[in-house]
Amino acid sequence: MAAARHDCDFIAFEVFAPAVASTLGKLARGGVDNVRVLLVDGAQGLAQLLDDESVTELWTFFADPWHKARHHKRRLVNPNFADVVAAKLAPGGLWRLATDWEDYALWQRDILDGHPRFRNVHDGWAPRFKARPVTKYEARGLAQGRTVHDLTYERLP
Ligand SMILES: C[S@@+](CC[C@H](N)C(=O)[O-])C[C@H]1O[C@@H](n2cnc3c(N)ncnc32)[C@H](O)[C@@H]1O
Repeated sequence: MAAARHDCDFIAFEVFAPAVASTLGKLARGGVDNVRVLLVDGAQGLAQLLDDESVTELWTFFADPWHKARHHKRRLVNPNFADVVAAKLAPGGLWRLATDWEDYALWQRDILDGHPRFRNVHDGWAPRFKARPVTKYEARGLAQGRTVHDLTYERLP
């Protein structure tokens, strides 16, 4: 995705070191030089490392669903994180999300539809973001009969 958008600077947050190594290897092999990969919690990194209103787009695709009710508090997309994203996105900036777990998709939509600083661009589910490649997570969800839901929110002025 970064290779297709040379005019943009990307910051990637990942907490799992082998995934960082894998991503750095792919970037190097592809000659992609517009991505910084940080071995940092995404919620904390976004809150502490970036200026307010400095982000054009935020992408959270196939975030861990944390199925059990007692683990829902670990979900990346939650009201506190939505406040952080609202602060960091520039006015008019976009938050794109996708998940293959319907209950997490509904959870995300409920939180963001009710957030005063976001507008659901599509009045419901978004069409599939064409630039998003099919990762193993999406492929597995589809193979197991799940539907992938995309969402897109605009940060209001
Ligand atoms: C289900 S995978 C999806 C990966 C990728 N977005 C995709 O669509 O293929 C979730 C990834 O998020 C990482 N992750 C989980 N919690 C995180 C957090 N708080 N900050 C940054 N990365 C996190 C996991 O280590 C894992 O690599």
